[in-house]
Amino acid sequence: MKLDTHPTSPAHLWFPNQWAQRACEAFVRREIPAILLHGPVGTGKSDAAKVLIKGAMTYRPGLPPGPFCKFDLKHDNAAQDSGVAVLESAVVFASTYPQGECRGWWVDEVDELSQRASSGLKGTFDRLENLGVQMVFTTNSPSAVSAAILSRCEVIEWRRPSPAQLVARAQQVLAQHGKTLDATTLYQLAVERGGDTRQFFRAVELMV
Ligand SMILES: Nc1ncnc2c1ncn2[C@@H]1O[C@H](COP(=O)(O)OP(=O)(O)OP(=O)(O)O)[C@@H](O)[C@H]1O
Ligand SMILES: [Mg+2]
Repeated sequence: MKLDTHPTSPAHLWFPNQWAQRACEAFVRREIPAILLHGPVGTGKSDAAKVLIKGAMTYRPGLPPGPFCKFDLKHDNAAQDSGVAVLESAVVFASTYPQGECRGWWVDEVDELSQRASSGLKGTFDRLENLGVQMVFTTNSPSAVSAAILSRCEVIEWRRPSPAQLVARAQQVLAQHGKTLDATTLYQLAVERGGDTRQFFRAVELMV
């Protein structure tokens, strides 16, 4: 059975540690302008980035996130589009929308930006920050991201989830689909798949 595993709330994320969780929560409350998630393939960085930037866009102090919040989100994937046009369109995006509305910019695989775009990113970042845009970046290779960007972001290492974290999340996913699997089976699958999320959930799908 095909399962929808995508997290839709910060409560669905596996945080690598308490500090990372606090930093992400502060980002959602828009207390910090930008985070960069880095870590190995398939650890959930892109899904986490999406949940966190949407959380930041819909955050209303003291109130639960509501569908009536007005926000605009720009998503780029530098693995698909790596030129300076990505930066130019981000500046247009940030300057076009009226001040006061929530705007977010999410750049996946930011290390894949071309050399020219990569050196222009610092200036774009500063312009967007001044315009109040929340930003999230993801990468497998933080060493390929400029020191200027690393210095401007909360840099968070996203790790492979522990077997216990995978079991807990699988139970949430299965419950959403009206299914259950016993914790011992799930734990065994998590250990066998070595914490590889994609492999783990494919195995769970075969069991239900
Ligand atoms: N919190 C979560 N709960 C359940 N499944 C998740 C969660 N986070 C990620 N996943 C699933 O794990 C898989 C990998 O997630 P994702 O693509 O976000 O990883 P990634 O770190 O961005 O990988 P890559 O480095 O290859 O881009 C996807 O199938 C995704 O739906
Ligand atoms: Mg990704």
